[in-house]
Amino acid sequence: MQNSLFDFSRQTDPDRLTIQRAYRFWAPLYDLVCEGLFMSSRRKAASIAGRIGNDILEIGVGTGLSLGDYGRNVSLSGIDLSPEMIGRAEIRASKGMMARLRSLRIMDAHDLAFSDSRFDVVVAQFLITLVENPERVLDEALRVTRPGGEIILVNHFYSETGPAAWLERRLAPLVRPIGLRPDFPFQRVERWAEARDVEIISRTASGIFGSFSIVRLLVARPATSRSEVPHA
Ligand SMILES: C[S@@+](CC[C@H](N)C(=O)[O-])C[C@H]1O[C@@H](n2cnc3c(N)ncnc32)[C@H](O)[C@@H]1O
Repeated sequence: MQNSLFDFSRQTDPDRLTIQRAYRFWAPLYDLVCEGLFMSSRRKAASIAGRIGNDILEIGVGTGLSLGDYGRNVSLSGIDLSPEMIGRAEIRASKGMMARLRSLRIMDAHDLAFSDSRFDVVVAQFLITLVENPERVLDEALRVTRPGGEIILVNHFYSETGPAAWLERRLAPLVRPIGLRPDFPFQRVERWAEARDVEIISRTASGIFGSFSIVRLLVARPATSRSEVPHA
């Protein structure tokens, strides 16, 4: 459905170079600005992910603020495009964490170097609105998630109506060079999920003023053919 006030078809997604530059700038400041702001949403997402399965990939792991949020049962892999951000995640990990860390790697979420169905859960916190091609990143997350597993997104999405939406539209072009995108519509995730037969299990408001969403996307299990139905 097209929002009548704002033509999203004219929106472009951020380019990789701008995002790389922005997160080179953010790396030394990031924890100071974002640690407290994202904490409750991050912890909720990690707790949900840990209940789904042990083998978890976090894409756009950044400075690794979430590394301490996962429980002891979790085997965690993290990737990020920015060497500066992931360098900080490595320092954080070296100080200890509860989860078992498999790897932290510089990698583009558009091209994940992992095999199909490799993970129980893929988590993307404050990432999907910042990538060059969000649908492609979702496709990659889908590819590496096992059937019956989940993709969990944590993000602010465009407010759609009211003064908040007005402000987000006005701010969008100003904050894009610093790697922020307040006007990304949730309907892009909905459209993608519909096209891929992925079920949106829930979208839960979280964080200050409920301005973030925790979105759970269930990766379908292949239909069981009659001959494969186990006998009682
Ligand atoms: C807003 S930060 C979020 C970091 C972390 N997830 C958190 O919640 O604190 C966005 C992160 O996504 C990373 N990123 C942006 N585009 C990416 C891409 N194409 N592939 C992997 N990481 C990317 C940035 O380098 C940055 O570390």
